[in-house]
Amino acid sequence: MKIAIINGPNLNLVGTREPDIYGRDSLNDYMVWLKQKYAAIDLTYFQSNIEGEIIDEIQKRGEHVDAIIINAGAYTHTSIAIADALKAVKTKSIIEVHISNVYAREHYRRSSYIAPVCMGSICGFGLKSYELAILSLLN
Ligand code: DQA
Repeated sequence: MKIAIINGPNLNLVGTREPDIYGRDSLNDYMVWLKQKYAAIDLTYFQSNIEGEIIDEIQKRGEHVDAIIINAGAYTHTSIAIADALKAVKTKSIIEVHISNVYAREHYRRSSYIAPVCMGSICGFGLKSYELAILSLLN
């Protein structure tokens, strides 16, 4: 199975950024750990702070993977372009992930352009949200 994990803006700072919300563990280290734990999966991970680079990665990977796990960060709440890119790709197994519980935070975090084009969304379980997304694909 091939899975692409795609992360959006400011997620490179998880571990030091607002640790009360996102925790103190580095997302990059967690991605390395996930890749080792699920070595049988062809897992790629990508992070960019730039909307167009995220779209390029969705277009590039979306044709060749079985599933995409995406945390678009703040673009979740603003980007029609990322939602359109997800709609255009071949794979229909797309899962939205958030580290924090977006529904327990500011009002503007409760809307997502990404959610309607996904199979489902997982949020609020910290970095474990990514592993839960993988497990849902394996089952
Ligand atoms: C986030 C939630 C977003 O609202 C926020 O802008 C982020 C991170 C999360 O993983 O909890 O950057 O996507």
